[in-house]
Amino acid sequence: MSDFEKDTVHLVRLAFDGKVADVAALSRRLLRMVAQRRPDLAPVVQVVLDAVLAGPTRAASQPLPVDFDSRLELLRREPDPHLPVEPTWPAAVREQLDAVVEEREQEDKLADAGIAPTRSLLFVGPPGVGKTLAARWLAVHTRRPLLTLDLAAVMSSFLGRTGNNIRVVLDFARRAPSVLLLDEFDAIAKRRDDTTEVGELKRLVTVLLQAVDDWPTAGVLVAATNHPELLDPAVWRRFDRVVQFPPPNVDEVATTIHRLLGDDEVMRDRVELLAALLQGRSFADVARVVTAARRAAVVCGHSTGDAIEDVIIDMSEGADLASKLRIAASLSAAGKSQRDVSSITGLSRDTIRKHLGSSHGKRTKKPVTRHEVRR
Ligand SMILES: Nc1ncnc2c1ncn2[C@@H]1O[C@H](COP(=O)(O)OP(=O)(O)OP(=O)(O)O)[C@@H](O)[C@H]1O
Ligand SMILES: [Mg+2]
Repeated sequence: MSDFEKDTVHLVRLAFDGKVADVAALSRRLLRMVAQRRPDLAPVVQVVLDAVLAGPTRAASQPLPVDFDSRLELLRREPDPHLPVEPTWPAAVREQLDAVVEEREQEDKLADAGIAPTRSLLFVGPPGVGKTLAARWLAVHTRRPLLTLDLAAVMSSFLGRTGNNIRVVLDFARRAPSVLLLDEFDAIAKRRDDTTEVGELKRLVTVLLQAVDDWPTAGVLVAATNHPELLDPAVWRRFDRVVQFPPPNVDEVATTIHRLLGDDEVMRDRVELLAALLQGRSFADVARVVTAARRAAVVCGHSTGDAIEDVIIDMSEGADLASKLRIAASLSAAGKSQRDVSSITGLSRDTIRKHLGSSHGKRTKKPVTRHEVRR
């Protein structure tokens, strides 16, 4: 069979499976082929193409599904998602996200080879490391609306109803190309200890896994969890890609601070110092600290640089001994001298030497005194 014939058979199969978004995508390809082979049919093909293109757009603007009793919407829809600030992705995450976008850009080439692009992804990582943000990033870069279903919120209701709601949401999301985010995916697993609902829960898990298995090629399904240990290994295997989101390293923290500061002028040294203090924390913590400093600067009429310095001093001063030692360790690891570490944390140099050893922090070029930090 030629490609054209194979595609026609495939189209019929998709239509019978009810995969509306995939039918639209394949129809577009076939119609373009028809117009090339038979220029005499081009005008009529164009009319049909316009209708096919309008189909998903119409589906995308359909009213959102609602809960039968409460009439509350089950999904959040952002037709034209945008990013509040350009995210800083750790290299391994960036590689995977870029690959997904690249596959979408070369979708026709993949289809010719009979291979589907990545349709399902599982995002795994602790809170605040960018899983939800990455789903939004994918929606922006694949030019699709973002649909979000917070499973933790839906799971709190009566399970029979939950199952029905999830089915309705999946059917809705299948109809038009989108990025569907199933946030807090582990919420389902958490329900497992409730033995009265085992049967219904099993059905629900089956429905979800089935959706992961045969998600339409035109869409992208993303599930996010910060409790990967609650998910069965069998669940992991169903996803095309599993992306691990690590907490940011000190350079990624510094880049994020710079981006969050935008045009506000803050000395590079101060940013590095704050990054060292925030090492080990999540991106969400970094965003919270920087936004609070910018807010304080505006309200008090100070420069953002002064507000950041206050944060640095507060973080070091307010800490208990154990935290001060942790801060001292991250400052040392970031290359600050023992003198700087001592003046910032208020720990004596003897204490620092005793806990961190004498080799730390010898790389610093420019000493920072407590007085300098305040200035
Ligand atoms: N890679 C990143 N670069 C810059 N900022 C980020 C990044 N990741 C997260 N943030 C900041 O942290 C906030 C929270 O991120 P997000 O909601 O994506 O975390 P999450 O991993 O989904 O957390 P949770 O498991 O709690 O849902 C974002 O709104 C953003 O301000
Ligand atoms: Mg999240």
